[in-house]
Amino acid sequence: MTAASAGPVERAAVDGLPVDFVWGAATAAYQIEGAAAEDGRTPSIWDTFSHTPGAVAGGDHGDTACDHYHRMPEDVALLADLGLDAYRFSLSWPRVQPGGRGPANARGLAFYDRLVDELLAKDITPWVTLYHWDLPQELEDAGGWPNRDTAYRFAEYAGIAAAALGDRVTNWITLNEPFCSAMLGYYHGVHAPGRKHFPDFTKAAHHLLLGHGLAVKEVRAQAALPPRIGITFNPVLAQPASTSPEDVEAARRADALGARLYLDPVLRGSYPEDLLADLAPHGAEPPVEDGDLRTISQPLDFLGINYYFRDVVRPSDEPHGYLSVPQTERPSTAMPWEIYPEGMTELLTRITREYPGLPLYITENGAAFDDTSSAVDEAGRIQDENRIVFLADHLAAIGRAREAGADVRGYFCWSLMDNFEWAYGYAKRFGLVHVDYDTQRRTPKASALWLRDAVAASRGR
Ligand code: FCB
Repeated sequence: MTAASAGPVERAAVDGLPVDFVWGAATAAYQIEGAAAEDGRTPSIWDTFSHTPGAVAGGDHGDTACDHYHRMPEDVALLADLGLDAYRFSLSWPRVQPGGRGPANARGLAFYDRLVDELLAKDITPWVTLYHWDLPQELEDAGGWPNRDTAYRFAEYAGIAAAALGDRVTNWITLNEPFCSAMLGYYHGVHAPGRKHFPDFTKAAHHLLLGHGLAVKEVRAQAALPPRIGITFNPVLAQPASTSPEDVEAARRADALGARLYLDPVLRGSYPEDLLADLAPHGAEPPVEDGDLRTISQPLDFLGINYYFRDVVRPSDEPHGYLSVPQTERPSTAMPWEIYPEGMTELLTRITREYPGLPLYITENGAAFDDTSSAVDEAGRIQDENRIVFLADHLAAIGRAREAGADVRGYFCWSLMDNFEWAYGYAKRFGLVHVDYDTQRRTPKASALWLRDAVAASRGR
């Protein structure tokens, strides 16, 4: 990597961030590991879904992905070269506990043992996500997340993971974005398992949250070192398309289904009344049993927030009651998601106001751009200025949220490297590091070098 020093952009971006701010990058197992059938791993719902014709762009799947399973030391070295403090990765449930029941798979766990040791040897703190969407297929066959038993299976698996890694790992995230697992997986059907049933979506959401609460208890019981446990949400930042009462009502519904359905039970121990009233006509109230909300609202040590874009909405007749209105006035990323850094400040200050008390970490933020077609210079380097501006603007927005009182303590860029972007396949590149999928060659983009310099600048070096 070049030795360019931190310039004015870096300083502006990190202004307002403290010297002990945690800097990291994030990935998820199915998106990078590959080795889908190796060392005893069984299929997850994402293996099944991605091999279903028409489900994923280009017919892409995660069989090989970034081949991280075989290239892990090289990837940890990339993190170290960037000077990052922390690495957020997820465990593949069907690698750790094939089929989602019964004993641990020693060969699968051994991979994560090596990864954790490799990170610690390089002074990088592991942040483990227990569930980033790869439910063992056998549990889906038994009903999936709409089936209450899945919550108990998840807690058992969480206990296995904590017993194996909790002597070295202290930062644990139970679920990544239960909104996506439940709503995109069981209602919109655009994510695995591809089901489209409104009441199943809220059942799934409730059992994900129950699984979270049960898993928190298991991790606390099984980990040798005192754990810090949180959950990662992507609360929808819903805004009405106009000031009309109909659009304002659509935004309320979007906020209820996309943000408060998750925040309220976990952080307040109750489901919002207006949400329950929205769900009742569809027979879609969460299937709450005695004691569930107490379990779900276990004390936590931090809250993870993922932020990418806002959702501007108007009404629709579908059960969820709103439609997203594409925003075209501002630039967007390749997804195409509108670039709206102010939303980062708005979301963090709102969480601080309405759900105070927990340290906040941005567990994901980043951008896909068409790097390989538009940003390659004559020497073949990827000059992704647009990603640098995106990161700088969002970091500055975090600085403003902190000035307004938000207790944000860290930032994990999505993603360390280009990877399998779910329903979009490999076409969308979010990486700081470019991956050539034919050769598996990794090449840091200009944004990676920029982030390295921004991190150094924030530490006053
Ligand atoms: C988030 C996911 C992550 C990645 C980014 C772009 O919703 O958690 O795995 O796909 O979006």
